[in-house]
This record gives sequence, C-alpha cells and structure tokens, in this order.
Amino acid sequence: MSEPIKHGRIVVRHFGDAAALRRADTAAPAPGPGQARIRVLAAGVGRTDVMAREGEYLFQRRRPFTPGYELVGEVIDHHADAVPPWLVPGARVAACLPRMGGYTECANLPVHLLAPIPDGLDTLAAAALPLDYLTALSLLDRHGRARPGDTVLVHGATGGVGDALCQLGTHRRLAMYGTASERSLHRLRGYDIVPIDYRQEDVARVVRARHPEGVRIVYDHLGGPSLRAGHRLLAPGGTLVSYAFAARPGHVLADTVRGALHNRLLNLLPGKRTAICSLPREITADPSRHRKLLTHLFELALKQDIRPRIGACFPLAQAAEAHRALERRQVAGKIILTMS
Ligand SMILES: NC(=O)c1ccc[n+]([C@@H]2O[C@H](COP(=O)([O-])OP(=O)(O)OC[C@H]3O[C@@H](n4cnc5c(N)ncnc54)[C@H](OP(=O)(O)O)[C@@H]3O)[C@@H](O)[C@H]2O)c1
Repeated sequence: MSEPIKHGRIVVRHFGDAAALRRADTAAPAPGPGQARIRVLAAGVGRTDVMAREGEYLFQRRRPFTPGYELVGEVIDHHADAVPPWLVPGARVAACLPRMGGYTECANLPVHLLAPIPDGLDTLAAAALPLDYLTALSLLDRHGRARPGDTVLVHGATGGVGDALCQLGTHRRLAMYGTASERSLHRLRGYDIVPIDYRQEDVARVVRARHPEGVRIVYDHLGGPSLRAGHRLLAPGGTLVSYAFAARPGHVLADTVRGALHNRLLNLLPGKRTAICSLPREITADPSRHRKLLTHLFELALKQDIRPRIGACFPLAQAAEAHRALERRQVAGKIILTMS
C-alpha cells in the first residue's frame, strides 16, 4: 500500500493541564528509506509525558508535539530497502522513541528502532516495558555498573522505573533498599528488598543500621537535598546515579538544570562517582544497542523473569483521563493507551 493512511494522534499545542492533550487528524505517508509504517496497538504513559505536557521537561520544549516514549504495533508496510527478515506485514514490533510521538494510531518509524515481539508475549505487557525497563538496564549496567551482591538504594522503588529496577535487581541478586510511601510499600513484598517508608523513617539511619559503611549505588529521581544525602550514604568507591530531578512538581525544569550541575560538582569530590542517565539521548547515540536490549527484555518477560505491572488501560481518545489518573496516583502499575 503506498497511499497515505489517515489516522488520529494526540497533540500538545500549548503547555498546560491534561486538557492540553487534544486529538488531531493526520496522515502517515508511504514509508521513506529505512522506515516501516506501523499500525499502533498500544502506547505506554509515563511521568515524563506529564512533565512534557506541562512544559517542565528539558528535552521536549518544542510544540506542537505528540507525547509518549514507547509503543507497540503491527507492521503495515516498509520501504523497499534492506530490512530484517522478521519485518513482514502483520509482525508485532515495539519501540522506545528517542523524541516521543507514541500517542498515535499510526507511525512511520526507523527500522533500527524496532524490536520484534515474540509470540506468547502479551501486547500490553510489551507496551509496558520499553521506557521503564530500558532505563533500569541503563541505570544498572551503564551508570551503576552493578554486580551481584552490591548494596543498592532505590528511591521511589514502587514507581515505574523503580519497580523495573527492583525486578531486574532481584534477578541480579543485588542487596536492595527501596523507598516508597506507606500506601505502596506493600508492593515491595516478594522482592528481596528492605522497604523504607520515606515519609515516616529516616532513610539514611535505616541503611546505616544495616550497612554502616554505606551502599555501593544510590538511584535518585528526586534531586535537591536528596543528592547530597545520597552521596553521603555511599560507601567508598560508590556511585550516585541521578535519572530525574522531580521532587518539586512545578519547579522541575529549573531543578533539573540545578540538579544536573549539582550532580556534576559532586563528581569532583574524591573517592566516589556520580552519573546522570538520560535514556532518550542514549537511544539516539546507539539505537541498535537499545533494540537488542529491548529484545533481551522481551525474552526475560516471556520467561517471567520480569513481570511488567499493568495498572489500567484507556482508549487513545481518553489520553487526558489517563494523565489525570496518573497525576492523582490512582493507578498502581503502568497506564497504557490502546488504539482501536
Ligand atoms: N532519565 C531517564 O531516562 C528517565 C526515564 C524514565 C523516567 N524518568 C523520570 O524518572 C522519574 C520517575 O519516573 P517514574 O515513571 O518511575 O515515575 P512514577 O511511576 O511516578 O514513580 C515515582 C515514584 O517516586 C516516589 N516518590 C515520590 N516522592 C518521593 C520521595 N520524596 N522519596 C522517595 N520516593 C518518592 C513515588 O512513591 P509513592 O507513590 O509511594 O509516594 C513514586 O512511586 C520521573 O521524573 C521521570 O520523568 C527518567
């Protein structure tokens, strides 16, 4: 088929609350060189989408834009240039998109971003994996250089990325501490992880009581005072890894700039290391590696070594409702948009 395909997508034209998510009609032309045209089946919704919608996200300040870092779909057709043998019409594929664009019914995507979804893996489970689990892999391997037996503190352990870190960390036999609030702390049961209620308990004291020397890695998405506290909690040779600076909704843009600088300054102190993870930039730098990592994650999910938690599904037309549910913290687990 070489005709453009008319379809709908969600567009943010003005930063604002969830009502800023509007449906727009558009058309996907025949795929260009290196591209495949995908009928989207489902797209993951994440905290970063909310930040981008509000204008709080450093890497998405351009408007209009379509939010969404991850999608799964079926191949409609592709350009005639060389493609992998599995890329045939009807094949299910997934992608983590370095510049967003997932909230759409149809997309022309670079083939080098597409990972095949194995038979037997549920479409929604595949949609819940790319952003959170690729970020967690990057945090563990690239930035934290985690090894079996390492002691690790995971802030926000029941969030999307935190849960992925705990699942992959359990699989790798890390000794983990995880912070969460009382309402979600129970979800850490079943992991080999020491739960800490960050609202009621002194996180550093709980960790020091068991590991007086400190931990090998701290994963932080909060920024602000948490950076200094995390750095202090590191054992000699340890690493503080930041992946967001999001403790103060409404101030995230400025806090990100300040937090990134603070992280870099802490790295000048001797005996410990700091790092900052930005998955979109890492995918842009090496898309093929991330496609392979996504394929690996699908294999782990198929074996049930990791189990993405689906919280709720909303039709694409209700993207605003999906964002409201995420912002009210009503849903435990990943929110997915589904396309008819
Ligand atoms: N660097 C990257 O490439 C990358 C990739 C993906 C996401 N991110 C960013 O990472 C951040 C987290 O994303 P997410 O999808 O995991 O968000 P999420 O699902 O909303 O999880 C955030 C978690 O933080 C916890 N939390 C809130 N305040 C806390 C505090 N003071 N101390 C400890 N934990 C606290 C919450 O726990 P309770 O609900 O129990 O309060 C919640 O579980 C977002 O800012 C997102 O934009 C970055």
